[in-house]
Parts: sequence; C-alpha cells; structure tokens
Amino acid sequence: MLSLDPSRWLAVGLALAAYAAVCLIAWRAARRHTVAVAAVDDCWQIVFASQTGNAETIALQSAAALQKAGIAACCYPLNQLDDERLVAGGCFLFVVSTAGEGDAPDNAARFARDCLPESLALARVDYGLLALGDRNYAHFNAFGRRLDDWLEAAGARRRFDRIELDGCDAEGLAHWQHQLLRLAGTTAFVAWETADFSPWTLVDRKQLNPGSQGRPVHRLHLRPSAGLPDWAAGDLAQIVLPAEPERPREYSIASLPADGGIALLVRQHVREDGSEGLLSSHLCRYLQPGESVELRIRPHPGFRLGANGERPLILIGNGVGLAGLRALLAERVACGRHDNWLIFGERNAAHDALLADELEAWQRAGQLRCTTVFSRDGGALRYVQDVLRHEAEALREWIGRGAAIYVCGSRAGMGEAVDRTLADILGRQGLDELADAGRYRRDVF
Ligand SMILES: Cc1cc2nc3c(=O)[nH]c(=O)nc-3n(C[C@H](O)[C@H](O)[C@H](O)COP(=O)(O)OP(=O)(O)OC[C@H]3O[C@@H](n4cnc5c(N)ncnc54)[C@H](O)[C@@H]3O)c2cc1C
Ligand SMILES: Cc1cc2nc3c(=O)[nH]c(=O)nc-3n(C[C@H](O)[C@H](O)[C@H](O)COP(=O)(O)O)c2cc1C
Repeated sequence: MLSLDPSRWLAVGLALAAYAAVCLIAWRAARRHTVAVAAVDDCWQIVFASQTGNAETIALQSAAALQKAGIAACCYPLNQLDDERLVAGGCFLFVVSTAGEGDAPDNAARFARDCLPESLALARVDYGLLALGDRNYAHFNAFGRRLDDWLEAAGARRRFDRIELDGCDAEGLAHWQHQLLRLAGTTAFVAWETADFSPWTLVDRKQLNPGSQGRPVHRLHLRPSAGLPDWAAGDLAQIVLPAEPERPREYSIASLPADGGIALLVRQHVREDGSEGLLSSHLCRYLQPGESVELRIRPHPGFRLGANGERPLILIGNGVGLAGLRALLAERVACGRHDNWLIFGERNAAHDALLADELEAWQRAGQLRCTTVFSRDGGALRYVQDVLRHEAEALREWIGRGAAIYVCGSRAGMGEAVDRTLADILGRQGLDELADAGRYRRDVF
C-alpha cells in the first residue's frame, strides 16, 4: 500500500527533482558541446558522422555519460579519423547516420572517399556501432552498414552487434545506452533527457509567394504556451502530429529568441502520388491562428555560427532554405557584422522574391550584399551555382579573407550542384579543408 506520510513524499520529491536536475545538466552539456576532447590515446573514442546533428548529439551524450562514470572519453567527427589512428588501435564507438541516398554525411565524406576503399589491418580495434537512419529511404542505414562491414572485414572486434535506429527509435537508443553501461562496467548511469514536445500556438501565417508557379510557401509565427526556450541561429524545430507520433518533421528556424517566437518558412509538399504532404499541409492550410502544434527545438551544432561569427559569411540557398539563412543573417546583423553575402535562388522575381522587404532593408543599411537569381525569368544566370561560377573571382577573394560558407535548401536540386561548383572553383581539397575547419556547412534536405 502507498504510504501517505508527507515527509516520505517530500523526500521522494526532492530525490526526483535532484535526478531531473542531473539529467538536465547532462542534456545541456551535450547541447552546448562541452564534452572535453581529451588526448585520444588513453580514452574511448566516440566518432560521429552526422548531417543534421542527431548522431552528433548522441555521440556527445555518450561521451558525457562515460565521463560521468569516470571513464575518459573523447568525441570527434569521422573525417578527423585516419588510417594511422585506426591502425594504432583502441576502443571506438561509432555513431553514424546516413544522408543523401545512402551516402555519408558531410563530416564523414572524406573518410568514406579516402579510407573505406583501403584494406587495413585493424586487429587492435575494439568497437561498437550505432547507425541512425530512416526506413522511408531506399538505402536504410546504408552508410552505417558499410562502415560496420568494412571494420569487420579489416579484423576489428565488434564488442556487440550493430544497433540500428529507425527515426526516433526510443527502444534502439535504450539498447545503445545499455551497451554503453555494460562496456563501462558501471551501473552509475544517468538516463538521458531530451527536450519534450510542447504546444506552440500559431500567431499568424502569410503566403510569401502568391501567384507562384511553384508550390505555396508560407511564413508562420508560433509562440510557446509556456516560457520561450533558448536557441541559436541554425537550429531546427521538430513538429509532430498525433497521427504520426514516431515521425516528427524538421523545419529550419527563421527567427531568433529576441523575435519573441519561432518563425518558419514552410513549403506545402505534394507527394509523388499527388497526395498532400501530411504536416506541411497541416501547417500551411488547416492549422488556424490560436490553434497549436506539438513542437520542440533541436540544436543543430553543425549549422550554427560558432567561431564563424568572427568571419565574413557567404550564405547560399534556394526556396525555403532562406529560413535557416535568414536566422544566421539576423544574428549577424544583431552582432554588428556586415560582411554578409547572400546568394539566393527562386523561380520568378515577380512572385518568389521571398522576404524581399527585409533583405532590401539590410542591403540599404549596408549590412548585406545580396545576389538573387530567378531561374524562370530568362537571362544568362539561372541558378545559384551559375552565380557562383560567374562570381568565382569575388568568391575566391572572400575565402582568401577567411570567409565561411553556409548552404541551406534542397539537396538534390541545389546542394549537390553548389557543392560541385564550389569544388571546381576552390578545388576539392580546398573545399574539404574548409569543411574540416568548420568553414563550409550545409543544411540540405
Ligand atoms: C534538416 C531539415 C530541415 C528542413 N527544413 C525545412 C524548412 O525550413 N521548410 C520546409 O518547408 N521544409 C523543410 N524540411 C522538409 C520537412 O521536414 C518535410 O519533409 C516537408 O515539410 C514534407 O513533410 P510532409 O509531412 O508535408 O510530407 P510527408 O507526408 O512526410 O511526405 C513526404 C514524403 O514522405 C514519404 N511518405 C511519408 N508518408 C507517406 C505515406 N503515408 N504515403 C506516401 N508517401 C509517404 C513520401 O516520399 C513523401 O513524398 C526540412 C527537412 C530537414 C531534414
Ligand atoms: C536529405 C536526407 C537524406 C536521408 N537519406 C537517408 C538514407 O539514404 N538512408 C537512411 O537510412 N536514412 C536517411 N536519412 C535519415 C537520416 O539518416 C536520419 O534522419 C538521421 O536521424 C539523421 O541523423 P543526423 O542528424 O545525425 O544527420 C536521410 C535524411 C535526410 C534529411
């Protein structure tokens, strides 16, 4: 029977509050990137491959959890791992997602290109591998599987079978945590806390491209029903519908906390069979001002300004990719940095000049150099990659002055072409070096 003794309830309450506080501290530590990168020789090496931050966050949480259990752990992206370090051996935990069409994420692309084709002797490597993917894609967990097979073929010892996550897979993640605990030989493990979804109310919605040949794009403003959480430019909003709780959709946040709420740019999606995209239609058509959606903020460390706040910035994007770029620009303007160059593409100037008033105001104030290009208006230049080629000299000059490049928008239509063009202009090796230095970042979907 339950005791109703108030002092016992108080004790239980205090213990739960203390536990929650510890969880929150661990979660915040992971969010803020504070896991120390120790000397790698004597620590567990937690190596991540991550495009939009999920694998990176889990890797940082894993490192924080091991450190809490008194075990030295360091955490770094797969591109920083080379043959020499692998052959030297040690304990590795790989947390790797799959991007594109079964491809390696950007911060693992060079490893995939240069190391995976090699045959190494890795008998001194012990490892475990967590693969993040989504069964809606044709090549489920392809990169994680490829890396795991390669390690096994090279003679590395698997300490436990590959764990595969399908989307937000709480069971798979719990299994990973259990394996960490077992390997660490500890029970002093603190459960991980992730931010909960909470209701955010639609304040207003406006179509930004009336008359467009493309699908409608709406700007939505949302406010939380509780206090405003913190986030940084580059972060993502995840929204979930009760009908599909296991599949949240992600949207780049277009605003800053100083704006008082979240702004999103959402394009109404149409599936290949002609049916409406579920969540984008809900956001663009059915949700009414005053009604709410379940939303949480997801840090996207790979697309934040970070140290690039001190560099000139080149922002390249198309369509709703302007959302993430707009947040970065707003942060730069707020910090008084005016060496910003936006190269933005859409279809027709008459209908698709998204956020034109704000961009023009920043231009007039000398806070932005803005090059827009419209693919269906005729003219010599049609796409952002054409602008890059045309402006190759200026681009090299900006890079020479230390600029960083941020790309946001469609992966297939724009991201790949921009990547190829930048590699043509700067050399593939030069672009790799920029990526390694955190000066080439992409949020492409
Ligand atoms: C990092 C990131 C940032 C993003 N930022 C933005 C942004 O700022 N703005 C924006 O508009 N979008 C953004 N997106 C895309 C967004 O997350 C959604 O994918 C998009 O809105 C479509 O979602 P939907 O629910 O409308 O479509 P869905 O219903 O999910 O359909 C999308 C696709 O999923 C498949 N699918 C899923 N369920 C079914 C089903 N039952 N039957 C048939 N096919 C199905 C189909 O291939 C379909 O084409 C971003 C994505 C990522 C990954
Ligand atoms: C543009 C895009 C392409 C993706 N391609 C694949 C894929 O080919 N196979 C797969 O299993 N998952 C794929 N995914 C799902 C991601 O692997 C999954 O969302 C993962 O959690 C992302 O982790 P990250 O944030 O660390 O990059 C893709 C996701 C996006 C947005």
